[in-house]
Amino acid sequence: MYKSTAIAHPNVALVKYWGKRNAELILPQNASISVTLDGAQTITTIELDMDLQQHEFYFRDGSEPFYRRISEGKELERVIGQIELIMKIADVQGLKARVISRNDFPTGAGLASSASGAAALVVAACDALNNFSSNKPELYAPIFDGGEKELSILSRRGSGSSCRSIYSGFVEWLKGEKEDGSDSYAVQLADENYWPDFRVVTAIMTAEKKKLTSRAGMEQTVRTCPLYHCWLQSVEDDLSNVRNGIKQRDFDLVGRAAEHNALKMHSLMFTTKPAIIYWLPSTLQLINEIYGWREDGIKAYFTIDAGPQVKILCLQTDLNRLENRLKVLSGIERIIVNKPGQGAHPTDKHLSLQNG
Ligand code: PMV
Repeated sequence: MYKSTAIAHPNVALVKYWGKRNAELILPQNASISVTLDGAQTITTIELDMDLQQHEFYFRDGSEPFYRRISEGKELERVIGQIELIMKIADVQGLKARVISRNDFPTGAGLASSASGAAALVVAACDALNNFSSNKPELYAPIFDGGEKELSILSRRGSGSSCRSIYSGFVEWLKGEKEDGSDSYAVQLADENYWPDFRVVTAIMTAEKKKLTSRAGMEQTVRTCPLYHCWLQSVEDDLSNVRNGIKQRDFDLVGRAAEHNALKMHSLMFTTKPAIIYWLPSTLQLINEIYGWREDGIKAYFTIDAGPQVKILCLQTDLNRLENRLKVLSGIERIIVNKPGQGAHPTDKHLSLQNG
């Protein structure tokens, strides 16, 4: 049996990806920029077992004491699709994988679990296949050299935004022009140590799973939202503001552009037919609080993905004041403080169904 394990972190987009130009290859309508977050993680072990008759997928998240076997549904399809794709590229036939995966945060709730999930799966699967093929050189040539561009493209095929979680720190997913998607991958803008004071505080309003996935939501937006062309026309400005803000470590420039971009994405959602509203009353309440805190001199900006959770961008100097204010608000279940985090990487801390 060949076993490999990888850790990946979610990322939060400062300029969002919302809309595909090719659904099968997962090619975006626009480029996006994110920061990888160190405060939450997915860890995934892949076992390549000659005795397995079919792929197996076991999963648990932060709230569950045991692994559940996932034997149907979209999540299973996504995992098997990604494994089969990698095995096809590696020219491995008939081999089956046991995938054991754990999140230490709520899954499918707008916290980018699909990003960390797909990135960890790709890194673990490529590593396992490399071990496997280097032990059977007469059968298989190792083809995955661990190149991050290749990993990013493979990860993109599982979940678009996950291609950014391959890298640490600040990351841009290039839109690309080619029809085969070979130029649509992520590149690092700055590593996790570049801006040590940068913080993202995730305010979790509810750990409940969202009813509409990002995949379905963005497809509806591209098809029915009358404002979608405005998004595409103005997104280059947001990208250049965030790029410049990161380059100059200009926190207000990054924060203003990120907040504007998030509100613009949610405006697209509101004007999609039928409307997509991921917010809860507590989401809007926190937005209003943040406006007030800014007037009190706390530098804080918000961004929101496809869910009700609010991610607050701030600097270390304001973190204590901000946390104290968050603690007394109602409607927030949990707070996670993040620094810019590491990219997806192998680890030797393997998961097992028996020992967690
Ligand atoms: O990659 P997906 O299908 O999970 O979509 C991500 C969509 C957003 O989180 C809303 C935006 C983004 O760029 O991460």
